[in-house]
Amino acid sequence: MKGIILAGGSGTRLHPASAPISKILLPVYDKPMIYYPLSALLTAGIRDVLVITNEGDHGNFKKVLGDGSHLGIRITYEIQYVPKGIADAFIIGEEFIAGDDVVLILGDNIFHSENLGEILSGAFSSRGGATVFGYPVKDPERFGVVEFDDSGKAISLEEKPKHPKSNHAVIGLYAYDGRVCEIAKTLKPSARGELEITDLNRAYLETGDLDVVRLGEDFVWMDAGTFDSLLESSVAVRDIQARTGKMVSCPEEIALERGFVSKDGLRKYLRDKKDNEYYDYLRRLIG
Ligand code: G1P
Repeated sequence: MKGIILAGGSGTRLHPASAPISKILLPVYDKPMIYYPLSALLTAGIRDVLVITNEGDHGNFKKVLGDGSHLGIRITYEIQYVPKGIADAFIIGEEFIAGDDVVLILGDNIFHSENLGEILSGAFSSRGGATVFGYPVKDPERFGVVEFDDSGKAISLEEKPKHPKSNHAVIGLYAYDGRVCEIAKTLKPSARGELEITDLNRAYLETGDLDVVRLGEDFVWMDAGTFDSLLESSVAVRDIQARTGKMVSCPEEIALERGFVSKDGLRKYLRDKKDNEYYDYLRRLIG
């Protein structure tokens, strides 16, 4: 199983805050936004990760995440030169995917749940097809929206509908089988000139190969793509961390818990890190 983080796009919705640097490197409370999707992939046990960046911020992403060896994983990079849409990730990433199953996660999506590991591994235990997640929101018109019939079966998918048929947004975490690159290549750009992830998911829905997992309100999902949601995400992370004493989406901690790195490996990584709350937390983990 491979993982892709899509961190491309121009991020103009957060300008001027994100004018100097990609929004996906802006802080969400105490860590860069990209730590959150990366942590979700690590929690799912994925150790081979492609980060797709925009051209201008390519070097910055590499500086922040490196080659992943400090986490016991492999991180490679590609550039999306033109913001051609989310499904373009499967055209850019075709060589990386090489016919394997793949999880795509959007760089500005933040997930938190006590059971995240189980939710992800349940959904990604390979049975072919695609899996997406529906989550109840108050503003479905901002998202891809999934409609269910009375028996709970997904029957339609629409991208940012003016009149949503349900209040279930499709969140930015998607799992596909190896056919995804071929299907992505058949998509036509939408009215906004993008290869829409919703069109890709609809292709799987139409052949009966799409699973939609409904997540409950105990699952935390935030799309940090507006000024308000960016601030709300920071506040939510701070509150959860203050309440539980455990970091939300700390990649080094997850890598240690999953045995991707040893305590010694983490100790070495921390050698040249200054004392601050984040690194002191990691130091406490290794005793
Ligand atoms: C994208 C997708 C949309 C999905 C959302 C999740 O929207 O197009 O289907 O629900 O991410 O964050 P956008 O990036 O345009 O906000």
